Amino acid sequence: MRRSKIIGTGRFLPERVVSNFDLEELMDTSDKWITERTGIRNRRFVEDGTGSSELGYKAAIKAIEKASLSPKDIDFIIAATIMPDYFFPGNGCLIGQMLGLPGVGALDVRNQCSGFIYALSIADSFIQNGVYDNILVVGSEVHSVMHKMTTKWRDTAVLFGDGGGAVVLASSEDENRGILSTHLHADGAYARDLWLEIPGSKQNPWLTKDMIDDERHHPKMNGKKVFKHAVKRFPEVIEEALEKNSLTVDDISLLIPHQSNLRITQAVAKRLGLGMDKIYSNIDRYGNTTSASIPIALDEAIEEERIKDGDIVIFAAFGAGFTWASAAIRW
Ligand code: UT7
Repeated sequence: MRRSKIIGTGRFLPERVVSNFDLEELMDTSDKWITERTGIRNRRFVEDGTGSSELGYKAAIKAIEKASLSPKDIDFIIAATIMPDYFFPGNGCLIGQMLGLPGVGALDVRNQCSGFIYALSIADSFIQNGVYDNILVVGSEVHSVMHKMTTKWRDTAVLFGDGGGAVVLASSEDENRGILSTHLHADGAYARDLWLEIPGSKQNPWLTKDMIDDERHHPKMNGKKVFKHAVKRFPEVIEEALEKNSLTVDDISLLIPHQSNLRITQAVAKRLGLGMDKIYSNIDRYGNTTSASIPIALDEAIEEERIKDGDIVIFAAFGAGFTWASAAIRW
């Protein structure tokens, strides 16, 4: 049986560190409120003019290098982002161009915090079915330009950060290693509980000065509802991945959850009966980087030697849509 295997990982975080204390200067918030409610202490923001494709490209270069490949070995690109450089074309095309890969297929996935696992799942299917051999999967985000750094928007503004992560997924004949399964879910009944309404095709004209003056072009979130669903869906989709592979919580070597809120991660740990030592967390340093958070965390976990051959690694995510997803991997 042909499986897919992660053979290289990379991350790129912008240099500019923005602390909770920096945000205190911009809005009525406090380091105490942010750390107690979310676990976030710092996040990274790009310098003006840096798009999410550039962060994705820089992470991709590192992932390709670590895979001991060169860009020309990549035969397909999947780019996940909530905040592409442009409304269209997508980041996949731009990253392909930066890598010097004219003609290589590129697909964009817009599934918010679950975007990376959705992208990985598509790549896994292509590889299992023999369509491609080496697929670049990228998650990259620039949140800092989308959120308004004012008191009115503080409930979302303090949560998010910029960054990029990437993996190279390759075909493998080793039946026992690699991606064992992926699990994807969505429920559009909650679409407007975490969303960015403007611009969009529901409006004609789709963007006006009034809409901008009314600040309808910033993301809106029903934080409590997102939290409530997250702490239910994360354990559910992790258990689904375990069950599918006849594994139990005790088999998990490392859980890499989408980094949305440390309190969500702690609640998930409690519900599963999994120790926090088995869960990777870097939210204190980067905040929520949406589709980039899992590949960034994975790259760090590998660097810190938290993953060894044969380990069971679980990825899980929940976010806008609502969407939620998991992947089970034997490393
Ligand atoms: O990846 C998916 C993305 N999103 C999430 O995962 C978010 C899920 N939700 C959450 O993490 C939490 O709901 C938040 C961290 C966003 C908020 O925590 P909360 O305990 O649900 O707070 P809240 O929204 O009920 O607000 C409590 C108070 C309010 O003041 P009053 O009405 O009690 O006077 C807010 O106005 O905290 C206030 N508040 C803030 N205060 C200081 C809201 N945001 C801030 C802020 N700084 N940044």
